[in-house]
Amino acid sequence: MAAEMALIKPISKFSTNPTRSTFFTTRKFNTTTVKMSATSSQPATTSKKPGKKANKTAIKESLLTPRFYTTDFDEMETLFNTEINKNLNQSEFQALLQEFKTDYNQTHFVRNKEFKEAADKMEGPLRQIFVEFLERSCTAEFSGFLLYKELGRRLKKTNPVVAEIFSLMSRDEARHAGFLNKGLSDFNLALDLGFLTKARKYTFFKPKFIFYATYLSEKIGYWRYITIYRHLKENPEYQCYPIFKYFENWCQDENRHGDFFSALLKAQPQFLNDWKAKLWSRFFCLSVYVTMYLNDCQRSAFYEGIGLDTKEFDMHVLIETNRTTARIFPAVLDVENPEFKRKLDRMVVINEKILAIGESEDIPLVKNLKRIPLIAALASEILAAYLMPPVESGSVDFAEFEPQIVY
Ligand SMILES: [Fe+2]
Ligand SMILES: [Fe+2]
Repeated sequence: MAAEMALIKPISKFSTNPTRSTFFTTRKFNTTTVKMSATSSQPATTSKKPGKKANKTAIKESLLTPRFYTTDFDEMETLFNTEINKNLNQSEFQALLQEFKTDYNQTHFVRNKEFKEAADKMEGPLRQIFVEFLERSCTAEFSGFLLYKELGRRLKKTNPVVAEIFSLMSRDEARHAGFLNKGLSDFNLALDLGFLTKARKYTFFKPKFIFYATYLSEKIGYWRYITIYRHLKENPEYQCYPIFKYFENWCQDENRHGDFFSALLKAQPQFLNDWKAKLWSRFFCLSVYVTMYLNDCQRSAFYEGIGLDTKEFDMHVLIETNRTTARIFPAVLDVENPEFKRKLDRMVVINEKILAIGESEDIPLVKNLKRIPLIAALASEILAAYLMPPVESGSVDFAEFEPQIVY
């Protein structure tokens, strides 16, 4: 897992102006606290508040922080029972398993001294932006690790091949999360993943929704990583932290994970071949795309910091992800219609107003009253985007569909 799958909820307000001096002092949150451990005796150099213990710092978690997911494991077992489901193409899963066993990135995630040196050079807002980027990415990767690990465990008896693939994907995600957490150590911080596992609330999705959401998460993650990698290769002056150099091989893990979910969906044609599947496909595309766009527009400073135009970057990722997704989903959104982007941009404006209310000095009742018309406006934009004429897609004849590695 690489991208965030949270559905749409407004979160903390970030300035889009990286030079604004109040950038971090105006940041407000409204939910739970996640512990972070300082990993060295040096004082943490970020603006995080100290926790009760001297060696702990605490961060607040916002509503769009990547979520953890759980599902109906009994239904999963039924879906992957080869006695019940004759669509399960075991030879295709065997081939995928061999690919995962090859473990192309076994020796890829090796750090060097450049990391710490680069982190030490980062100061002020840029440093804080990077810490947040590492935290969010680590949480998203760790979320994938937990879900895949549990699926690997639960499906062992029913379908050992699929179960082993899940376990090997959890290996990949653990590696990704661990590498990002090591990155946090360059900033004298570390996410307390054990605490996170116990303390975070888990969002329940039925298996078919796990398939749609996770497929999209993996593919959008692939496109995000490869786009950043290619951009920084062409513009090395923005290469301010070496983790991006690892994205080329890293994103191939995400691509493989996405291809595995393609194969899973093909084995469950009931999730792809009727009108309900088309409605759900569009719903999940919209949820994932809008979440990314609103999230990223709140963090323009990060993308500007590495020389990207946030909206251009997001639209490129959306269009490519949508084209990839159209190979398997029975319907996708018409994201290449300019009206779709206009709608997204209007959502950003409304979301900024909602977030500004959260930061105002008003009492909670007044804040809520002010939010009502804006939330209604946001919901109506989202609905209008959902109702735009979709693009019919997918492959009715699954034999024609072959997963492709996209470089
Ligand atoms: Fe990952
Ligand atoms: Fe992944």
